[in-house]
Amino acid sequence: MPPSLTLLLHTPPPPFFLTRCSATPTTTATATASCQSLTILRKTMDRLAGNARLMIVSDLDHTMVDHHDPDNLSLLRFNALWESNYRGDSLLVFSTGRSPTLYKELRKEKPMITPDITILSVGTEITYGNSMVPDDGWVEFLNQKWDRNIVAEETSKFTELKLQAETEQRPHKVSFYVQKDKAQEITKALSKRFEERGLDVKIIYSGGMDLDILPQGAGKGQALAYLHKIFKAKSKLPKNTLVCGDSGNDAELFTIPDVHGVMVSNAQEELLQWHAANAKNNPKVIHATERCAAGIIQAIGHFNLGPSTSPRDVTDLSDSKMETFDPAYEVVKFYLFYERWRRAEVENSELYLANLKAVCSPTGNFVHPSGIEKPLHDCVSSLRTCYGDKQGKQFRVWVDQVLPVQIGSDAWFVKFKKWEQSGEERQSCLTTAVLSSKDVSVAEGLTWMHVHQTWLEGAGPNSNTNWLF
Ligand code: GLC
Ligand code: MG
Repeated sequence: MPPSLTLLLHTPPPPFFLTRCSATPTTTATATASCQSLTILRKTMDRLAGNARLMIVSDLDHTMVDHHDPDNLSLLRFNALWESNYRGDSLLVFSTGRSPTLYKELRKEKPMITPDITILSVGTEITYGNSMVPDDGWVEFLNQKWDRNIVAEETSKFTELKLQAETEQRPHKVSFYVQKDKAQEITKALSKRFEERGLDVKIIYSGGMDLDILPQGAGKGQALAYLHKIFKAKSKLPKNTLVCGDSGNDAELFTIPDVHGVMVSNAQEELLQWHAANAKNNPKVIHATERCAAGIIQAIGHFNLGPSTSPRDVTDLSDSKMETFDPAYEVVKFYLFYERWRRAEVENSELYLANLKAVCSPTGNFVHPSGIEKPLHDCVSSLRTCYGDKQGKQFRVWVDQVLPVQIGSDAWFVKFKKWEQSGEERQSCLTTAVLSSKDVSVAEGLTWMHVHQTWLEGAGPNSNTNWLF
């Protein structure tokens, strides 16, 4: 059956968190977040009606991102699940060992959505929002009892330590490569040296090759504990937190009180050994049978943290048993259909186009990023000529930060970023759409009234673009 493109929705939440900048988060472990970072954090929170339903704190390399899957399928499945079911009322936190430089590189390489909070450089840097505003309170806290010069001086005496790239050396992180068979012995010797010099540091071995030296109060777990304290002080502790990881620097995430945890199936030996020695009997931590992001989805289902079926796993998208209108799901579903249509993964049926037209207002218009305006119905008709034009090719479409706002009793304004990747080429548009539930049932789905797109900075058109929607 062709999809009818019916949609559901969550009620858009009213703002909360209306504290003034002078009101700083009270945390025992730390100084306070700066005014600017608090403002961004508050903005992030503004879209949550209450406490986040779910906070996912996930490592990136070999956890959210599978470097052995050139099609990025599990990541794309996670993205569709998050944007359709969680974006509006939950929090996404990426927690990576990468520096800001390497994190930004990864974002260019892989189809990643945007997190609300980014924890970088093994929990030594916390940033908020799209503009990644750093939390200065965290920086100040880490400055206590830390002396980078002593770390540099002591480590230079070990010839087995090979310094990592300059980008990965950060104010509160000094990183090396060490052979697996030498790691334990070197860690011990280093700890002794630092102790003698009166420096309280944390040494973490990850991925069977990376050795990071950080202040004792830093690390992915400590950064999460800090965030929890900020949220708690505002009575906004997420209802559930799920931590996800694969390697040594993720271990301490699993020690934070009350969190659920998933070690993805492809977890490194060092994490599994740590788990066997320290968390074996904790029923809130599982070792997934699925790799990377598929393991995260598996954990959401296992712990009953919310919906765990990605729209990408639904073949017949008309089959969804919606109970309410849901603009976010509508958007995800539309672009999934669009991808499948161009990849010829759905039947080349006129019925699909008729159904699409049925959910587009006959008077509705589409403003193409080039500035050309066309009736929505004409855009649907133009799909006819591009059926299967991406068949057998690397072609993927995903949406990021799908945020609907209800603007009337039967109307929603939805803003999102739409990405399209074709081979090596990537393009993205900031998209706004108005959807209406006037004179339609939930089963029929929302009506698209208007769509407007603008090229995202740096992700604009290439010479022969065939961007359609
Ligand atoms: C990332 C960082 C590296 C670090 C490693 C383990 O790969 O780029 O500096 O050592 O994570 O934490
Ligand atoms: Mg990892």
